[in-house]
Amino acid sequence: MKENSRRGFMGKAFGAVAGVGAVASLYAMKRSWDPLPSVKAAGFTTLDMSGYEENQLVTEKWRGKPIFVMKKTAEMLAKQTEAQSARDIKVGDDHYMIAIGLCTHLGCIPAYNPDEKGFLCACHGGQFDWAGDVTKTPPPRGFDIPPFKIDGMKLVLGEEGPEYKAMKENGITL
Ligand code: FES
Repeated sequence: MKENSRRGFMGKAFGAVAGVGAVASLYAMKRSWDPLPSVKAAGFTTLDMSGYEENQLVTEKWRGKPIFVMKKTAEMLAKQTEAQSARDIKVGDDHYMIAIGLCTHLGCIPAYNPDEKGFLCACHGGQFDWAGDVTKTPPPRGFDIPPFKIDGMKLVLGEEGPEYKAMKENGITL
């Protein structure tokens, strides 16, 4: 009788431990199936647009790609053509050139010359203006513009806001 109840107790205790173990391993499995929080957020990069200086190129990063950000000067805005203005990204009162910083020929990273206000790709001599449009081949087109959404004074790279969708529809970016 005593033996039996002891066995009964041991059996229950074992069952309880096994149950806890099963729940724990189910929990661990679920965690490994769910994407980590950092992976969920990995597709987006949020830029605070209040800190950029005019005519200074800053290279940010989004999904491992260089992203060129340059705040345009009043002189650029006064001089630029309609095609150049069409590539502008306006945040607050400021206009920016924001683009994937890879040459559309074979993917080198062009350098910006603030005095000439243009880009030169050292690989095969391709050139781009301050708006990111191509001015000298072999690049077949201007810099591609990454998906973006304007959120107050912030810019979220990786989200397709209405301004980006309009650019895509109008053939300004691929
Ligand atoms: Fe830029 Fe060829 S990769 S010109």
